[in-house]
Amino acid sequence: MTQLDAVEDSTVEGSALVFPDGFVWGTATAAYQIEGGAAEGGRTPSIWDTFSHTPGKVFAGDTGDVAADHYHRYRDDVALMAELGAAAYRFSTSWSRVIPTGTGPINREGIDFYSRLVDELLARNITPTLTLYHWDLPQELQDAGGWTVRDTAYRFADYAAVMADALGDRVAYWTTLNEPWCSAFLGYAAGVHAPGHTDGAEALAAVHHLLLGHGLAIQALRAALPAKAQLAITLNPAVARPATSSADDARAASKVDGLQNRIWLDPLFRGRYPDDVRAFTAEVSDWSHVQDGDLPIIATPIDVLGVNYYNPVIVAHYDGVKPRAHADGHGDGAGDPWPGCADVQFLDRPGRHTAMGWPVDATGLRDLLARLWSDHHTPMYITENGAAYDDVVDADGQVHDPERVQYLGEHFAAVHDAIADGADVRGYYVWSLLDNFEWSYGYSKRFGVVYVDFDSQERTTKDSGKFFARTARNNAVPTP
Ligand code: FCB
Repeated sequence: MTQLDAVEDSTVEGSALVFPDGFVWGTATAAYQIEGGAAEGGRTPSIWDTFSHTPGKVFAGDTGDVAADHYHRYRDDVALMAELGAAAYRFSTSWSRVIPTGTGPINREGIDFYSRLVDELLARNITPTLTLYHWDLPQELQDAGGWTVRDTAYRFADYAAVMADALGDRVAYWTTLNEPWCSAFLGYAAGVHAPGHTDGAEALAAVHHLLLGHGLAIQALRAALPAKAQLAITLNPAVARPATSSADDARAASKVDGLQNRIWLDPLFRGRYPDDVRAFTAEVSDWSHVQDGDLPIIATPIDVLGVNYYNPVIVAHYDGVKPRAHADGHGDGAGDPWPGCADVQFLDRPGRHTAMGWPVDATGLRDLLARLWSDHHTPMYITENGAAYDDVVDADGQVHDPERVQYLGEHFAAVHDAIADGADVRGYYVWSLLDNFEWSYGYSKRFGVVYVDFDSQERTTKDSGKFFARTARNNAVPTP
């Protein structure tokens, strides 16, 4: 019996893929990528302010100082979500807006901004889904060691408690971390994300302290929130496909699976780190950052798992000395995001690609959901999925983005297939509501289903936004 059995007979728009009743269609964003107002309302710099203001780190010197100006336009943006028929909104709160020094006194103005946003959402029947950490660590905490030190985990739990106290009466869906793989490996090993370090040992310490912070935050949230609260973490699991059936390629793919998937999933769901990962990273870290009693905290039960998916990767064994820049579509850093993986390489492949150079392949999403469901039996939400293309406003004043429409249609169908296979998937958040600051790519990559003119801040719903709206309204995707 799958979630779909009850809706088998329904038809919408003729032949359509109908989702289970109550399936949630939402849009997603993150604080630093859209808010702007970087120095307003008592906010102080996060590591992304520092990084983006460091010459050479972000495309064209772009920063999140103004971004999509959502800090001032949030009411209009919530109205846009309502027009899109979105039932939920996944956003993140900026730690340095709420607790400007990371550990100091609470900034009422910061809390009030999020409180007004939540009220605005509720007034339009949009469910707020709050992420506490989407990569923007207060700079003061980075100055004290950032995620390489244990103390940051405890400060994160304090911040979680502050947010639960402020918004727990109105927000029921809470996510601790967004894609901690990126925070740890792109931030501390590859150097392409803030804080821009290139040290594999630091990255592995960051993995552990992010997980510890997650576990402590879950405990703090559970203690402060009503019993109905749904608590989660969002990961970006790799769909790592070996290039050939050789044993060497299988081993290479298993290393990527270890460093991007099992290093998070095993502690979270099994209370232990994978032995093979500890073994192949022993050359860079002795793992002395793990203390007795940490793993049970990390394995504190969660209610749902957030899954971000963009594309699968093709992995092969590598013999010899390769250039250290990584080829998995996250930009070229000075560092290596894959500690202990000098014998692993990523291959490109023919076929469609997005403007990020990422291959388009929705089968990876179906496979991923099946695997996560069978391994962990935890209900899931797709908390991000989407694509960048080089959008323009046409002569007719519209943004026609057929490639994104096709991408979304294929991925909606893959989610439908995964549910039909038996996976418990409860919702889908498109990345992103708006074009925004795409990290080290600045404003050069557009992921929105709504176009943003960054000079005038004018918003234009793209064809993909209309396609999303139709899907959300019908709770069904027309069969391609
Ligand atoms: C994810 C991030 C999100 C956005 C998309 C394209 O890794 O969580 O902020 O950058 O990629």
